[in-house]
Parts: sequence; C-alpha cells; structure tokens
Amino acid sequence: MPLTNMTDMLNHAYRHGYAVGAFNVSSFDFLEGVLTAAENCRAPVVLNLPETHAAHYNFDMLMAAALTGARRAAIPVAICLDHGSSLSAAVNGIKAGCNAVMIDASALPLDENLRCTKEVVDMAHACGVTVEGELGYVPWVAGDGEEKPPEDIAYTLPAEAKAYAERSGIDCLAVSIGTVHGLLRGTPRLDITRLAKISEAVGIPLVIHGGTGLGDDQFRKLIAHGVAKINYYTALADVAGASIRTQLQSHPHGSYPQLTSGVRDAIGAQIERMIRLWGSGGRAAEVLQQCRPWQEVEQIALYNMPDKMAETEVTAILQQGMATLGRIPGVRKVRAGKSRQPDGHDHYCWIIRFASQEAADHYRTHPSYLRFIDKSLRPVLPDLLTVDYIAAE
Ligand code: 13P
Repeated sequence: MPLTNMTDMLNHAYRHGYAVGAFNVSSFDFLEGVLTAAENCRAPVVLNLPETHAAHYNFDMLMAAALTGARRAAIPVAICLDHGSSLSAAVNGIKAGCNAVMIDASALPLDENLRCTKEVVDMAHACGVTVEGELGYVPWVAGDGEEKPPEDIAYTLPAEAKAYAERSGIDCLAVSIGTVHGLLRGTPRLDITRLAKISEAVGIPLVIHGGTGLGDDQFRKLIAHGVAKINYYTALADVAGASIRTQLQSHPHGSYPQLTSGVRDAIGAQIERMIRLWGSGGRAAEVLQQCRPWQEVEQIALYNMPDKMAETEVTAILQQGMATLGRIPGVRKVRAGKSRQPDGHDHYCWIIRFASQEAADHYRTHPSYLRFIDKSLRPVLPDLLTVDYIAAE
C-alpha cells in the first residue's frame, strides 16, 4: 500500500523545499539497506532500477522483491525505471512493476529527444505512470575519476528546457548543470545560476543525476533552486565494496554471507545522512496523507465457449488472447483458467492485472484489445461477464 504516486511525491517535495532520495537498487542488500534507512528516517524514497544494471541481475526478479518491499514498507515508496532507453523499455518497466519511468534520450538531438520523450509520456500517462525526461547530457565517468568533467558534458539550456517540458508533458526534468555519473576527483563545479533559470522557466520538479561527490552546501543550493529528486548510487556501491574489503581482512577465508554481512548497514548509514541533509526525513506521514497511493487493478472475465467448439480451437483463442492482451501497455499479467462444472460444461476465465485504474481504462480503448474482441471473441462468445476490482495486497 505505501507504493505512492511519484508525481505527487515530488510535487510535495518541490512545494516544501526538500528533495527525495532516489537510490539505485542493485541487489537484495541494497534494497533492504535503502528501505530500512528510509524507514529509520521516516522519509519518502524512490527505488531506482536502472535499465543499464540489467547486465548484473535479473530485472524482473529484483523488481518482484522491490514491489514486495515497497508494499510492506511503512513509508511512501515509488519505483522508477532509471535511464530507460526506449518506448519498449518503458513499457517493459511498467509491466514489471515500475510506477515511474525515466526516459533518457538525452544523447539525441533536441527534436529526437522530444519525439522519443513525448511517445513515452503519451503511453505512460495513459497508465497513470510518472515520466522523468532529461535534457542536456550528464556524462558517465568510469571508476575512480578524472580531474575535471569529461568533454562531452552538455549543459541544459533554460529556453530549450521550457520548450521540451511543455511539449513533452513530462512530470519532472533531469538537468545537466555540472554533475557527472560516478565519482570525480575533486568536487564538481555546479552552474547554480543556470539551474535557477531552468527552474523558473519550467516550473516543475527538477532532478539531479550524479549525486555522488557533491558537497553539503551544493546539495542545499540545488534544493533551494527547484531540485526535488536526487539520484545517488556510486557512493553506496563504494561503501559496500569497502565493507566487503574490511570483512575480508578479518576473515580471509570468509564465506559470502560473512563477507557481505556489513553491506546493508554501511549503505544504510550513508543513505540516512543524505536523507537528513536533503530534508526528506520526517516527511513520510504528510506524504502518505497528501499523495495518491498507487493501486493495481485486476479484472476477471468469465465466459463460456460454445459446446460445439473443438478444444484446440478454444486453446488457440486463449493463447492468442494472452499474448495480444499481455502486450498492451499497463497490463502486468494475463492468466487464463478453465473449470469443468458439474453440469458438464467448461467455464473459462481470464484474470488480467493492470498497473493502475488508468491502465485498465486505457486497455478498453486500445486497438489491440478492440481488434481481439471484435475478430476473435465476439463471433464465438455467447456471454461474457467482466468485473474490475482493486488488487489489495
Ligand atoms: P551517482 O552514481 O554519481 O551517484 O549517480 C547516480 C545516478 O544518477 C543514477 O541515475
């Protein structure tokens, strides 16, 4: 239940002058570390699941754990696909469990970035899902660092940001004002004047990628100029690595659980410090009260097939339905079942799980759904009963 609408969560932070931490989740230790730290501080939090990390873990399995963790948390949680590369990545992220997506087309020219972002916004908003876009380019530095930001940094231009935000309809904007992903040697130089102009131009919550390595005062200035979400990861990966190395010194032949036993606390301590600094500590109750909870919806469809229809034909229709309907954005799962009643007739059902009520409403108008109903079901189905309900967990 404490899964919370990320647009509402960030707007709350934006209005009240604090920033929500968005921490990358790259293992179960990270997931527990983030949620425990946020609960200790009574803070709203964003679990970032980056598409780029999929090389290190199975996205769907970690997402299932993130959803379970978010649902049982005592604080408001949003789950965001971080650095989604395409419309299909965003569709898959929502299907897997995200209630927010970041589309990163920032390496493309402005018009292509805008086209790609708008496509994602149209799809995601139809499912009630928050969209973060990025304009300007926040580069990546590998490993331990460079003397100065890489050459390919492209700063966000305020006038372009205004046009991009208005035309795409994004809910929050990631900006490039001097941060980089990863750790720089020395403190990055931030263009706060530029940030202030962007904030004034767009009037929506801003997002900072590359939180690692910034000083306390820099964070305060970012938040004072419209930043409501801060993405933070490398410093967590570094303290996790340091914790394992410390364990290795005292247990040179230590097993996996022994070596990783300090990771959760090490990450948690770092996160708690950031949450307090960014002002999100103690905000959980207000956010839970004022922001829309995120609720999945399920639909059950009950129907009978004509008695004369061959079993193979029935199975073919079921399979076609499961495949077609399962690809519609906002549909999370389609299950089909059959029961043989004492009257000797077979009865069938579909259970369709949607990301949200908006997604369920959108589904009923989707061309793939209408085509399937008109072409495959209506000609053979004498009766069909459907019921929607909120899927409480
Ligand atoms: P850092 O790894 O530099 O903290 O950045 C994380 C990030 O921006 C994830 O999107």
